[in-house]
Amino acid sequence: MLDLAKRLLTASKRSDVPPFIVMDVMAAAAALEAQGAHVLHLEVGQPAAPAPATALRAAQAALAHGRIGYTETLGIPSLRARIARHYADTYDLALDPARVVVTTGSSGGFILAFLALFEPGERVALANPGYPPYRHILTALGCEPVLIETSAATRWALSAKALIAEHRKKPITGLVVASPANPTGTMMDAAALAQLIASAEAEGIRVISDEIYHGLDYAFPAETAAKLSPRAVVINSFSKYFCMTGWRIGWMVVPEPLTRAVERLQGNLAISVPTLAQVAAEAAFDGRDEMEAVKHGYEENRRILTEGLPKAGLDKFLPVDGAFYLYADISKFSGDSLQFAKRMLEEAHVAATPGIDFDPVNGHNFLRFCYAGSAADMRAAVERIGGWLARR
Ligand SMILES: Cc1ncc(COP(=O)(O)O)c(C=O)c1O
Repeated sequence: MLDLAKRLLTASKRSDVPPFIVMDVMAAAAALEAQGAHVLHLEVGQPAAPAPATALRAAQAALAHGRIGYTETLGIPSLRARIARHYADTYDLALDPARVVVTTGSSGGFILAFLALFEPGERVALANPGYPPYRHILTALGCEPVLIETSAATRWALSAKALIAEHRKKPITGLVVASPANPTGTMMDAAALAQLIASAEAEGIRVISDEIYHGLDYAFPAETAAKLSPRAVVINSFSKYFCMTGWRIGWMVVPEPLTRAVERLQGNLAISVPTLAQVAAEAAFDGRDEMEAVKHGYEENRRILTEGLPKAGLDKFLPVDGAFYLYADISKFSGDSLQFAKRMLEEAHVAATPGIDFDPVNGHNFLRFCYAGSAADMRAAVERIGGWLARR
């Protein structure tokens, strides 16, 4: 009887994926704040600013109107057309709106893309370090994530050479690239991205490009994979540039022959994406001036950290090209990023994310700082870290 009850209450093996450690850091920070501490939050990767005023107004008007019903499975046609226009405006790419799929954040896009492209058991290459849910979603769907080490030689991006070497050992079916990347904040230039995509496709490896941090590029303009290959699947989101994390809205650009498969999947999994978020997202494109001002704030924060952290003692970090992350090497102080982050939080009241969240191999030597907060917080964080490291 006990055995039967246990069986009824046991979670599936595929659901046994690791949690996000950053959530534990947030919980520890909240506990300190409950005791009256003033914690500086550089751990969570989300903008402090709200959605553009244009988006908020459109959502309020839609609410006042009354009924919020389902929409077309692939998204409201005018939003899909507006997203397609964004490709013409930003990348000089004529994109058929029929290839645009509106999703519940880029997170929803990954599930659709992985289901539409891969069979269970297939191997999908990911850069290490990288965004943990790529590997955890793949695992939950029965695919095998294959972590490929990166190095300074390729600006911490996955290289074609390393990809093909792994493919020769055992065939790889897919590749996820991200530029700008999380947690490193590094970018691939257009030539490097084009070469990687061409090398992958020449071997029959399907490419998914996570472009969620496009728009937040400081070193050089980010190129879309959609321009480099009509076969690439692009995933993007309103969460970061448009400051709409909680609205849960994103999009994909899908090769035309795959759109029907994605439509069938989304129709069954979600019916459609939340209508209010779609209305707000379409209006968000009219709020670009406001978002550019937010981006300039990140640029200032980036300057404060890249100049201030070396003076505070953290003088080794990866190129801070884009997104709003700085990935700092802490190995001269500690080889245990979890412990280091814990002590920095408890003793200096600065929250950052331990690298082990993003890199099971070398993450113990790194901390990720998110600079999407205020300039005052960045200055205070540099001060506190400097004082704390000097006292250690
Ligand atoms: C690289 C990367 N991709 C995807 C996501 C998921 O974002 P969302 O589902 O809000 O679009 C994140 C969130 O932090 C991210 O850093």
